[in-house]
Amino acid sequence: MPAADDMAPSALADNSSTAARAATATTAAQIELRGVAKTFHVRGRTVEALAPIDLTVRQQEFVALVGPSGCGKSTALNLIAGLLQPTQGEVRYGGAPVTGSNLHVGYMTQKDTLLPWRTAAANIGVALELQRRAVPKAELRDRVAQMIDLVGLRGFEKHYPAELSGGMRKRVALARTLIYEPECLLMDEPFGALDAQLKLLMQDQLQQLVQQRRMTVVFVTHDLGEAIALADRVLVFSARPGRIRAARDIEIPRPRDVFRMRFTEGFGKLHEALWDELKDEVAKGTDV
Ligand SMILES: Nc1ncnc2c1ncn2[C@@H]1O[C@H](COP(=O)(O)OP(=O)(O)O)[C@@H](O)[C@H]1O
Ligand SMILES: [Mg+2]
Repeated sequence: MPAADDMAPSALADNSSTAARAATATTAAQIELRGVAKTFHVRGRTVEALAPIDLTVRQQEFVALVGPSGCGKSTALNLIAGLLQPTQGEVRYGGAPVTGSNLHVGYMTQKDTLLPWRTAAANIGVALELQRRAVPKAELRDRVAQMIDLVGLRGFEKHYPAELSGGMRKRVALARTLIYEPECLLMDEPFGALDAQLKLLMQDQLQQLVQQRRMTVVFVTHDLGEAIALADRVLVFSARPGRIRAARDIEIPRPRDVFRMRFTEGFGKLHEALWDELKDEVAKGTDV
């Protein structure tokens, strides 16, 4: 069995552009959580979602968060996106405190919220249409067409969400997030509902896109294999209140062959070590 670092580059990867990312993350901090905790008060009930956590995500780093359901993963993304304010501590982005909506990030939320009465193309363009300074029609059309190509949806522009497969709807949601060219992507279980084969295809495309656009990514998943396949670093969260129980650098060179890498010894060892941390937390189960 080949070692993890013998792995062939993905057949689909665009080597000319991925080579530019050979050294992945820089050392500068993009996202910083300093003693960040979040407690919710709902109808007399108090839910401690996130214990005080410290986390630094470097520019162009791909960090995956895994943990049992209800441990505060989505809450962490909402805090980075500035949609929630922490109960304690501080969230910083690019060195500055996040006090309102963080406009530097593209956020793909857990549910794909496509507008059913708009075609794929019209869904992708919606963010640019809603901008305060309207994008000229011709430019909008060009940018939407570019996105359609980027996520492999050519031929489906005029289809409505109900006429698209689950994977295609995810691609529309991804294109809609990418169209305003965010430097950072927050993704909340984006491929969770897809079948195993389609998931691998989407993972392969995502890693190519991230490399081409040199984006910083925080990716939430309940699939440990997916986390290892995609990330530079995997963080295992504890059961609620979420804290970072384990962190592991994934030093598998890029571009990675997401289809074959899980059969390598290096991958197996990482999976085993991280599963050891994760299984106790899943057993404690919070929202199961
Ligand atoms: N807006 C909210 N109001 C009240 N409780 C919330 C809110 N968002 C999340 N929670 C609670 O906080 C906990 C963590 O939620 P969440 O971050 O969605 O977990 P995860 O994404 O890891 O499954 C859960 O118990 C959830 O019910
Ligand atoms: Mg969640």
